[in-house]
Amino acid sequence: MQDFRDKTAVITGAASGIGLALALRAAREGMRLVLADIEGEKLKAAAATLGVAAERLSLHTLDVSRDEDIANMADEAFRRFGEVHLVCNNAGVGLTRVTWEHSLKDWEWVLGVNLWSVIHGIRHFVPRMLKQSGDSHIVNTASVAGLLSTPGMAAYNVSKHGVVTLSETLYSELAALKSGVGVSVLCPAWVPTAIHESDRNRQDRYGTPDEASAVSRAYEERMGQAVKSGRKTADDMADAVFEAVKENRFYVIPHRKINNAVQLHMDDIMQQRNPTPLE
Ligand SMILES: NC(=O)c1ccc[n+]([C@@H]2O[C@H](COP(=O)([O-])OP(=O)(O)OC[C@H]3O[C@@H](n4cnc5c(N)ncnc54)[C@H](O)[C@@H]3O)[C@@H](O)[C@H]2O)c1
Repeated sequence: MQDFRDKTAVITGAASGIGLALALRAAREGMRLVLADIEGEKLKAAAATLGVAAERLSLHTLDVSRDEDIANMADEAFRRFGEVHLVCNNAGVGLTRVTWEHSLKDWEWVLGVNLWSVIHGIRHFVPRMLKQSGDSHIVNTASVAGLLSTPGMAAYNVSKHGVVTLSETLYSELAALKSGVGVSVLCPAWVPTAIHESDRNRQDRYGTPDEASAVSRAYEERMGQAVKSGRKTADDMADAVFEAVKENRFYVIPHRKINNAVQLHMDDIMQQRNPTPLE
């Protein structure tokens, strides 16, 4: 997809971090915007800074883990703007604690927001995008946690590995059809956003997290520091995404230094060695 002007972009998690940066970049490209977030007031405030006319903007306060919320947003997007050209399934949450301290509700929350949301997005947008005549593109935000298995983040790692394989599968299927629907998967390392404060959006039905042990708290502390000290910005992620969409490139891995860890992981598998421990 080369030309973004007057095309329609759908972006989830658009009130903060990478989603907001994607919205800013899409606005600068002259796109119509369908923006969604669970933090409705924050989304409204963020949208007001984008300089997009009200008739070109559709805001949705929703929960991406709920199928009906994504279905309603998709219906509204196609009803209002006719076609959808770029879908960024981006909203996500993080949780840090050792694997055996993830409660059932922790698993349900993280998999719901990070993985089921992308499943819903694909189900509700791709069939209608396939019927359109021009090019369109799906961008799923995974993480390097979808390529590696960093300790202290089991549910997050599982959700992001899920997003990577879901995206790879979708890519192969759409490529075999020679459809005009492209797919990319964004796999950032640490980016300074509000991801380490994800508990703010934990829906009531998942209850409050259980008390974490000292070992889990140490992982939490390390993760928070890593996020805050990330060198590449959310804007860098958005630029990398738009470049990849233009080039119809699948893997978007903006932190090139992570390649060594990914290579080591692949080598462990190929040589059937035990996993090399990650920090
Ligand atoms: N920041 C990083 O270091 C990093 C690294 C790799 C991948 N990611 C991924 O990037 C994506 C964006 O995260 P971010 O870093 O910008 O964090 P962020 O917390 O700044 O933004 C995430 C947005 O998602 C929204 N959200 C959370 N739960 C939701 C729900 N149930 N329904 C709708 N919206 C919901 C939040 O309100 C927030 O606006 C996530 O998928 C995250 O996993 C982030």
